[in-house]
Amino acid sequence: MYKTTLLITLILATRVMKSSSEMSTKQDWRPKVLVTNKETPAKGVNLLKEKCDVIFPENVPATREEILKLIPGVDGIMWVGHHALNGEVLDIGAPKLRAISTMSAGMDYVDLEEFKRRDFPLGYTPSVLSDAVADEAIGLMIAAGRRFHEGRLKIDNSQWYIGPQWMLGKDIRASTVGIIGLGEIGQAIAKRLKGFDVGQLLYSGRKPKPEGNKLGAKFVAQDELLKESDYVFLAVPLNNSTRHLINATTLKQMKQTAVLINIARGEIVDQDALVDALKNGTIFAAGLDVMTPEPLPADSELLKLPNAVIVPHLGSATTRTRDDMSALAAHNILAGMEGSPMLSPYPY
Ligand code: DGY
Repeated sequence: MYKTTLLITLILATRVMKSSSEMSTKQDWRPKVLVTNKETPAKGVNLLKEKCDVIFPENVPATREEILKLIPGVDGIMWVGHHALNGEVLDIGAPKLRAISTMSAGMDYVDLEEFKRRDFPLGYTPSVLSDAVADEAIGLMIAAGRRFHEGRLKIDNSQWYIGPQWMLGKDIRASTVGIIGLGEIGQAIAKRLKGFDVGQLLYSGRKPKPEGNKLGAKFVAQDELLKESDYVFLAVPLNNSTRHLINATTLKQMKQTAVLINIARGEIVDQDALVDALKNGTIFAAGLDVMTPEPLPADSELLKLPNAVIVPHLGSATTRTRDDMSALAAHNILAGMEGSPMLSPYPY
């Protein structure tokens, strides 16, 4: 009996000693983290600097090749920007690399299958940007529906005419608004619309969501949403099932008076088909934060259209939002490197 107690005590003591020596190694350990863009907000970078040595590529923006060269020997990476993030990065980083977080909500540039296959700690930064993106979506809705760009062109071309039928736009009041994808950004858009006296709020997606009921939104099939809506918001992630979800066929399903707003990813829309639809009056107008390619060349057909309001991917571009994104990414990396659960892990 005494022997057994002694044995247990010894085992426990060894465990405690082992874990405290692990702790002290952990405390002394100063990991090295690569932040792939030197202009990343200080809020996140400073969080990392408290506990890690932080390195950056020289150029802004850095090429992918430049980033890859810096990966050997780092413990964590904050992947800022949309360069392809895939198995090659993990191979170069192995065996030291322990965690990566992007500073984005969209993960279309990440080989998620590969990360999942390797069970590699990967974080991202949704939620903190939903409000900023939704604000911009509402801005695009109003700007496109009320012909802001076309109006400005009229002034520039000395075509300002005063008359009761001149430059009439679309009302939001009593309109039917359709949101394709009622994720966090879609919900934030719906919340904002509450103040606009919308007639009917529709949404489509894989399945109805409890949040839809709370927001007074009705779940419908995508075909019905396109057919019924005066405004159509795209708020889905880009993947194989959403690529070119808006195309020549689906554009024809929309009302001729409809306004399309895309704050998700350019490739969700077949852009050539959209240009035709805007030229031919298949739909009324579009408000786009995202397009293909990015950056959009200055001679793009899209930029010649008076009924297209085009913004250079500014959805999350506010000071507070970018600060919060960088901080969340930093927390993800710090936790991931320690082997603890990330604040915002990508849900494979
Ligand atoms: C995102 O986070 O996905 C935004 O589009 C900015 O990249």
